[in-house]
Parts: sequence; structure tokens; C-alpha cells
Amino acid sequence: MKNLFFFFLMCIALPGFADDVAAGRLKAEVACSLCHGPNGVASLPNAPHLAGQQAIYVSEQLRNYRSGKRQNEVMNMIAKPLTDSEITQLAAWFSAIKVTVESP
Ligand code: HEC
Repeated sequence: MKNLFFFFLMCIALPGFADDVAAGRLKAEVACSLCHGPNGVASLPNAPHLAGQQAIYVSEQLRNYRSGKRQNEVMNMIAKPLTDSEITQLAAWFSAIKVTVESP
């Protein structure tokens, strides 16, 4: 019964998630890739990598930049006009990027 419930949840949640990823990718390409890289691997030395980052973390940081709770001149300006659904889409995109890690 529980499994059936999760199956049902996946059926309604996954298409929404895929849409968010696609929309987030387009937005990120225009608004974020200059600094955070086209695949979320930062292209600026002082910008953090976002590829594979947890969606919850990314959206929380964007909300904090938007409200001013987290202060950074550049990110405060970038996050200010973002809507809640744009934040959800951007977080979905960056979290969907697959990352592999190799120890030195
Ligand atoms: C002009 C360069 C620039 C652009 C464009 C930019 N960022 Fe950033 N971003 C930064 C820098 C620099 C930081 C580190 C800020 C700090 O120290 O808080 C940062 C931090 C972040 C963080 C926090 C990451 C962490 O590890 O805590 C997130 C999330 C983020 N950016 C998302 C985005 C998104 C989404 C976009 C596009 C809508 C974007 N950024 C566009 C430069 C940029």
C-alpha cells in the first residue's frame, strides 16, 4: 500500500520536476552561466560550483539572497527579481546535474 502511494507520488511529481529542470536550464544559461558555468561548474574563481548541489540548499540560498538575509552585492542583485517558481526551477536544474568525484 505504501509503495503504491509512492508510485503514485512519483507519477505526479516527476513530470513536474522534468519541466522545472528544463525551464531552470534555460534560465541558468542566460542569467547564471557567466559565473557559475554552463554546467554549474564555476567559471569565475570566486564563484561557487552549483552542479549537483541539493535543491533545498540552492533554493534556500536564493531566497536568503533575495530577502537580504544573506549578503552579497552580486547575488543580492541577481536574486532580487526571481520569483518562487523561478527559484524552484533553477534549484531543480542545478541539483539534476550529475557530478562524479575523484579523490586526489
Ligand atoms: C556575476 C557573477 C554571478 C552570476 C551571474 C550569478 N552568480 Fe551566483 N554567485 C556568485 C558569487 C560570487 C557567489 C558567492 C557569493 C557569496 O559569497 O555569498 C555566488 C553564490 C551563489 C549561490 C550560493 C552557493 C553556495 O554555495 O552557498 C547560489 C545558490 C547562486 N549563486 C546561484 C546563482 C543563480 C541561480 C544565478 C543565476 C540566476 C547566479 N547565481 C548568477 C556570482 C554570480
